[in-house]
Amino acid sequence: MEWTSLNDLRESYLKFFESKNCLRHKSYPLVPQNDNSLLLIVAGMAPLKPYFTGQEVPPRTRMTTCQKCIRTGDIENVGKTARHGTYFEMLGNFSFGDYFKDEAIAWAWEYVTEVLKLPKDRLYISVYEDDDEAEKIWHEKVGVPMDHIFRMGKEDNFWEAGTDGPCGPCSEIYFDRGEEYGCGKPDCTVGCDCDRYMEFWNLVFTQFERHEDGTYTPLKQKNIDTGMGLERLAALMQGVDSIFDVDTVKAIRDKVCEIAGCEYGKEYKKDVSIRVITDHIRSVTFLASDGVLPSNEGRGYVMRRLLRRAVRHGKLLGINGMFLKDIVKTVVDCNKCEYNELEEKYDYIVKVLTTEEKNFNATIDRGMKILDDYIQEMNASGKTVLDGESCFKLSDTYGFPIDLTREILEEKGLSVDEDGYNVCMDKQRETARTARGGSKYMGADETVFHHMDKTFSTTFTGYETLDGESEIKYLATDDELIENAGVGSEVYMVCGETPFYAESGGQVGDKGVISTASGKGEVLDVQKVVAGKFAHKVKITEGALSVGQKVRLQVDKKNRDDIMRNHSAAHLLQAALREVLGDHVHQAGQLVDAERVRFDFSHFSAMTDEEKLRVESLVNANILKGLDVEVKEMPIKEAEKLGAMALFGEKYGETVRVVTMGDGEQIASREFCGGTHVDNTSRIGLFKIISEASVASGVRRIEGVTGRGVLKIVAEHSEKIKKAAAILKTANPFELVKRCAAVMQEVKDLEKERDELQSSINSMRSKTILESTVDVNGVKVATAMLSNIKPDSLKKMAEDIRSRFDEVVVVIAGVSGDKANLVAAAGKEAVSKGAHCGKIVGRVAAVTGGKGGGKPDCAMAGVGDRFKIDEALAQVNDIVSEFVK
Ligand code: ALA
Repeated sequence: MEWTSLNDLRESYLKFFESKNCLRHKSYPLVPQNDNSLLLIVAGMAPLKPYFTGQEVPPRTRMTTCQKCIRTGDIENVGKTARHGTYFEMLGNFSFGDYFKDEAIAWAWEYVTEVLKLPKDRLYISVYEDDDEAEKIWHEKVGVPMDHIFRMGKEDNFWEAGTDGPCGPCSEIYFDRGEEYGCGKPDCTVGCDCDRYMEFWNLVFTQFERHEDGTYTPLKQKNIDTGMGLERLAALMQGVDSIFDVDTVKAIRDKVCEIAGCEYGKEYKKDVSIRVITDHIRSVTFLASDGVLPSNEGRGYVMRRLLRRAVRHGKLLGINGMFLKDIVKTVVDCNKCEYNELEEKYDYIVKVLTTEEKNFNATIDRGMKILDDYIQEMNASGKTVLDGESCFKLSDTYGFPIDLTREILEEKGLSVDEDGYNVCMDKQRETARTARGGSKYMGADETVFHHMDKTFSTTFTGYETLDGESEIKYLATDDELIENAGVGSEVYMVCGETPFYAESGGQVGDKGVISTASGKGEVLDVQKVVAGKFAHKVKITEGALSVGQKVRLQVDKKNRDDIMRNHSAAHLLQAALREVLGDHVHQAGQLVDAERVRFDFSHFSAMTDEEKLRVESLVNANILKGLDVEVKEMPIKEAEKLGAMALFGEKYGETVRVVTMGDGEQIASREFCGGTHVDNTSRIGLFKIISEASVASGVRRIEGVTGRGVLKIVAEHSEKIKKAAAILKTANPFELVKRCAAVMQEVKDLEKERDELQSSINSMRSKTILESTVDVNGVKVATAMLSNIKPDSLKKMAEDIRSRFDEVVVVIAGVSGDKANLVAAAGKEAVSKGAHCGKIVGRVAAVTGGKGGGKPDCAMAGVGDRFKIDEALAQVNDIVSEFVK
């Protein structure tokens, strides 16, 4: 066998299966589409599930892919061994009711022995214990000797994932790496845990459907699903021991070592960190390129965890400061030949990853300090298990991931109270439980639409017309197909042709009306369902509808026009954002309906007022230029060449629709888009941003309006201005600003006047109080009760008296609204004679059931029962006499 690079191996595999008439398809994004059962794509077959079950019709009954995959089940072991990793590519060839065991086995053998030229005597085969058919093919048709074929149980040779879905027996191909890799045990053979017999290709004969109750029924069509780990195959072909030694992976490993200034293979602990970083940075780079952003849930959390783990291992290697950027560059360079999106989105990927790196550095610094304190406490008290609540607090309040806590503790011979931690987690989950979509393994939960003809799809005529005729092919409720539906009911209607747009690409479905000879209905929404059918949600307003009837479909034009204006504005908005903020701006989501455009985009700080204004002006300038909007279908390659903006992580077909605004020198925007648009930008009317805010880390949201929406806002604003003018009694709204300024000045002047009056009243009150002093053991004691005095004025008054009369002790109660307070103040001489206001006011307040205290020269207290104030003040002299002897 000949040393072959990973990239060449991929090509050789895909070419080989193309020669077997399989349709070669680019890797699907890592983010599953229409599949709630998976966070991320874990196998080559995962994005193809509906083709296996027959729910959807594949583009060809034979396909081949090299699929990006991420599996995080073994994340704790990544790094610790050279076998584990989270990111890998899976080479696959698939048959959907086309070829079966004979061909799958023969072609696998042909590829392995004739293309890769692996020596036959070092190849071994395993088959499922009951699968005589497969054994016969391997032995009789392919010529593998019987002593190279092993039968194995369900554990090893039956492939299924989850509780239900397509599955079947499988057959695996092993490579004997030689005795030197063996464990030396006398019974060491194929299937042994040691490193000698390496399983590298899994052929699954997907012929059953597993049901949740554990039973199996044969699938209508027999399928083939095969999977071969590309990195593993490369390790074999390159004669190296692990995936970390494979050319493209090693390049990343070398970069990590270069940055850390260390060598691989010298010290176990360092190797662990080097492997963690190498693997995880591959994962997060690809995740970012598929539009995933770090967050606290779902796949965003997987990404955050991988990235943070890598950053922390960077610290363990002694790398100071930010270091991901250079490694990402290497990942991109090694993989861009197959995944051109890596290069196109390079700046964006770096921005996403380094922003998270920076945030996490700050989080780590803070969390480490707290954890260090915990560890010191544990050491001091001899505890070896950190309680669940502290672990939870670290992760929940301080964002310090639990796996880091676990690892750091482990390094010091300590551990986490897992049960206690889980209790806290469960409690929180309970509170934050949110509705999640279906969770069936096959993702595509069975809906009523799956009972319709798979090959029947709806043709959309609504780019050209808003009025059409067709025939009602299906009527359905939420759970069954029906023949007729009467007035008042809400049903789904499917027909062969429709001018109604079905929600997609963030543009909502059209509204409108339908009618047949016997009934009428209002279309509330339109959704795309299985296999290209448009389901119109219809409320029947008159008579009844029946399957087979001729139906007239009329889209609400006004509503559609509003939607189109908003959608076209969204395109101009994206272009303007990229111009003002930079090329890292990409659409992260959008909702375009008749009221507004809501546009989410990647950007890492709040927009300034000036930026918002510039964006708005740019969009409006392109509206005022009256640019023609051209819509064209073209091969995806051509669209890419033209530089049309595509969505991240979106799967596009071979032919795409491209919407261009402007021409020649004046191209304002060019995007892949299936939506409906105005024919000239001038029809948008005007664009106005109404808000800009953050929706997630690194994602901002702009809401804006166009056309009639702007007019509505303008009308609302002028109505408000009129009302405000009326309240301020100015006849002329244009005088409003002047009038507001004058009113504010008036308010200020009045406040000043009031404060002056208040202070002269207070000094008169002080005077009266001092006139009523009584001698108690040589100090002068006065009490008073004042109404309508706020606590701070009360305190001020007491302080004023104290500073002017050295031998005085005053206790004043002040009532303000439904609250009452006591203040006590004592002059210098009174204090030196023993008066202590803190204690005195506390004693006096206690009579009312209140509490308080403070310094010897001035203190305050709250009053409990206001009706006991007189009684309390009557005791002041006695209380003071206890202190002043
Ligand atoms: N789906 C099979 C696997 O993942 C091929 O091994």
